[in-house]
Parts: sequence; C-alpha cells; structure tokens
Amino acid sequence: MTDRYARSRALFTRAQHSIAAGVNSGIRKMEQPVPLYFSHGSGPRLWDVDGNEFIDFQIGQGALLFGHAPAGMAGAIGEQAKLGTHWAAQCELEIEVAERLQALMPAAELVRFNNSATEVVLSALRLARAHTGRPLILKFEGAYHGWADEGLVGFCPPADQWGDEEHPTRLHPSQGVIPGVLETFVVARWNDPDHLRRVVERHRGQIAAILFEPIMCNTCCMEPVPGLMDTIRELCDREGMLMIADETITGFRFAPGGAQQALGFSPDLTILGKAIGGGVPFAALTGKREAMRKIIEGGVVHAGTLNGNPLCLAASKWCLDHLLSLGESHPRVVSDLGRRLMTGLRELAGRFGIPLHPQGPGPAFHCVMTKPGDAGGQVRDYRDYVRRHDAPRWAHLRVCLLENGVRAIERGLWFVSLAHEPRDIDEALVRAEAALARHAAEWKSV
Ligand SMILES: Cc1ncc(COP(=O)(O)O)c(C=O)c1O
Repeated sequence: MTDRYARSRALFTRAQHSIAAGVNSGIRKMEQPVPLYFSHGSGPRLWDVDGNEFIDFQIGQGALLFGHAPAGMAGAIGEQAKLGTHWAAQCELEIEVAERLQALMPAAELVRFNNSATEVVLSALRLARAHTGRPLILKFEGAYHGWADEGLVGFCPPADQWGDEEHPTRLHPSQGVIPGVLETFVVARWNDPDHLRRVVERHRGQIAAILFEPIMCNTCCMEPVPGLMDTIRELCDREGMLMIADETITGFRFAPGGAQQALGFSPDLTILGKAIGGGVPFAALTGKREAMRKIIEGGVVHAGTLNGNPLCLAASKWCLDHLLSLGESHPRVVSDLGRRLMTGLRELAGRFGIPLHPQGPGPAFHCVMTKPGDAGGQVRDYRDYVRRHDAPRWAHLRVCLLENGVRAIERGLWFVSLAHEPRDIDEALVRAEAALARHAAEWKSV
C-alpha cells in the first residue's frame, strides 16, 4: 500500500536531527499519523508536500480568519517589505491600526502591540497587579492563555489531581516554571456563577483580575451560561478587580468587535491575537484608559524589539480594513456556514451510529465524541468535558477525516473562515461521509 504521507514522514525523520523533537511548537507533535509538512495554501484549502489537498478547518489554529494567502494581504506585506520590515521606532501605520481597533471595539480606548498573544497575556496580568496592588489572578479551570508560566496555570489538569468541585487544585502542565507561580493564581470552574462568587469571596481583597476566554474555545468551545459575563463584570466592579477578556481566538470571529460585542459586555483589558494579524506574528493589548494608566505613567514596563513592526502592521491594517468592509454581514456568513457544517456532521454521524456532537456558536465549534452511556446535553465545564469526551475515538475519526481531505484541529476544534464558501462546506460533508463510514467500520474492531 502506498503511504500518502511519505514525504512528510521523511521530512519529520530528517527534522529530528536539527529541530528539538522535530517540531517548533509542542502541540504539533500530536498530529497523527505524522506531523504534516505543507507546501502552499489558498483560501480555505491547503496542500501538503505529498500533494494531498485538504479543506482546512484548522486554519492556522484560528489565525487565518481571512483564509490562506489572501491576495490583498500578500500585496500589502510585499509593498511594505520593499520599504522596510523593521525600524524599532514609530510609523504612521501603528496609529492607523490602533485607530481601526478603536473603531471596532469601544473598550479599546488605548492599545499596545506585541508579537504574540502569550506576551500580551503577561502584559495584561502585570498591569492588573500594578493597577490594584494585589497579588492574585483568578482564571478558569481548563482555560489556555498562552504557553508562558502564567498562561498555563490550571490548563489540562489530570483528573486524579483535580481537587473537589469547590476548590479546584492549582496545577501546572510544565516542569521548570518559576517557583511560586501557582501561588499567584486562584482557579475556579467555568460556567458556575455562584461558585465563582464564593471563590472571589474567599480571596476578597487579594485578587487583581479575572482572566477568561469569553467563549472557552480551547476547551470544547463552551459558551458562557446566561449571566456569567454579567457576574464577572459585577464582581470586578464591586471588588475593584480588572476584567480581562482573552479574545485571542474570539476576537473578530464572533462579531467585528469580538465576543464582547456578541455577548454584550465591556472588559477593562482585552487580549487580541491570531486573526488580528491574519497569520503574521502580531497581537495587541487594548483597554480602558484608566486600566492602561500604569503603562502611560511608566510604572509598568511594556517593551519588545519587534513590537509594532511595519510588516505586521501592514498585514493587520489589511485584515481590519477587510473586516470593516464586511459591515453587518459579519459574522452572519461564517456563522451560517459553521452551523451548516455542524448540522451536516451531526446528521451523518447519526446515520452511522457515531456519538459525535458538535457544540459551539458556528464560526468555531468542537466535536465532542461522547463515551458510551452519555446522558447528552451541552458540555459545561472542563471536568464535564474530560468525563464525557472519548478522546481516542475522536483521534481515530480525525485521522479518517484527514485521509479524506478534511483537516480539523487535533483536539476536536473546527474553525470556519471568511474564505470558506457554501461549496466548500458541501464538499467537506461529502468527504466527511466517507471518513465517518470508514471510522464506523474500523472503530468497532479496534
Ligand atoms: C485564548 C488564548 N490565549 C492566548 C494564546 C496564545 O497565543 P499565541 O500562541 O499566539 O502566543 C492562545 C493560543 O492559542 C489562546 O488560544
């Protein structure tokens, strides 16, 4: 039998000799049957070095809201590259991008740029501690906020170490972190406003900020229960804490002004990444003027050699202009396409007796593969997800999807981009049908 990934396999073997573990981001090792090497992309499609073509729903881990290699963005980057890629100084472009963010998000009274959302998370937390003079950050169990020491607290805790429902244990998935980093966090469960109130009460006067992803895309695409955003806002106002929305994924995706527009809340600080640069390394901290005061005064250090470099700014300006030009049609088109894909997958899975349950708002959704005997209903929090999601079975289906030219994220997340069209969704469903048929036939015998 021919190996459809032969060139990727050979490159991955070769990479072991020059790149630690063969990949440049740990999560990429997860890809089965082998981490793939790509040659080019266009719109919603991507080609690997073996010539396999994929309808892409991984879409740069969500960064490519505008699809692969949009011509206008390539032009903007090319023109800027001829003028210079980096000055470590000011340029008019940075004001133009900042002004566009202000136009899109009322809570973006002021902005600062970085090159990754991981950095922006660190900036926001530093700012919150300085602003309040308090040591603790409250975050939600299972939430991912970048790969730095602070962003990873409480991410992926193993079930045998969770602690009881009321007191989630502070755990860290990495060795080598700064001693004491866990003691600077409080972890609460997602989607339980009463529990959140009690956690805040127990640490009264000690918490600088509540950090959250408004729709927890990284863990099962869990939307907030009604009232959760209001509870966070109310607690922050009452207790003098900052409300920090991590909109790295949700920003621009669920509304031009992000989840804060879609869900109707106004955070003190917002973390933006991924789609803001359409695939170049660009990210922003935005916030209310008062919350940014310590940066204005100079008490909080925020710096970076490549911050606000003209190459990334040119790309971002193109992305934001594109978004502004969509007007009211965004996010309706991506939502409709996403929901059409979710419904199609659910129906096909049902036909093959596969317990696959897509959940999420549409522009992003997660395929939950429930375990035998599952009672059904939405997955509400991280523990619910771990208890109910059959990860090995999903991993098998994901390989079948990949072999039929449909690429979803390894852990079950799917993104629909502005480059996907109805015919891409229809074609993806035809391909998915073949994948589901194969999964149904093989999984029984596994
Ligand atoms: C919610 C959230 N915050 C922060 C980050 C970190 O972004 P980056 O990998 O661009 O640093 C991510 C990345 O996936 C994310 O999903």
